[in-house]
Amino acid sequence: MTRMVTVNLKINGKQYSEEAEPRLLLVHFIRDALKLKGTHIGCDTGHCGACTILWDGKPVKSCQILAVQAEGANIMTVEGLEPEDGKLSIEQESFRENFAQQCGYCTPGFLMMTRYLIRNNEEMTREEIREKLHGNYCMCTGYQQIVDAVQDAQRKYFATKK
Ligand code: FES
Ligand code: FES
Repeated sequence: MTRMVTVNLKINGKQYSEEAEPRLLLVHFIRDALKLKGTHIGCDTGHCGACTILWDGKPVKSCQILAVQAEGANIMTVEGLEPEDGKLSIEQESFRENFAQQCGYCTPGFLMMTRYLIRNNEEMTREEIREKLHGNYCMCTGYQQIVDAVQDAQRKYFATKK
């Protein structure tokens, strides 16, 4: 019989405590045990970025980590982006306004990267944004609108700081 391990962690400000097999990937734990389906699985090999979450505020590909390694972690998933007032976050609003998604499969990962990038960089050029997003793939948009959306999100974020 497979030994189960209890994993205690915080996601989007809420404390969870659930059992996981020692070999279970964090992305499967988040989606299947905790029922937070916003984080997507595109490859399971660390290439596509669809599974990106923020761990202590830093982007992490959750298909590259075991659930048991997340004991005590403080994580944000795409569900945590939305402000409590029911409005869209700066990142969501910017992607919507700039038509930065088509099928939307890659979008959760890009939104989490955008949350991280706009808060942890001075004003970025388009080239810098492209470089920083090199770990996230989109099969639909050609990236142009995604770069527009990140720039727009950063402008909006800086405006809140004035
Ligand atoms: S599913 Fe994790 S990088 Fe593709
Ligand atoms: S919008 Fe379809 S993969 Fe990016």
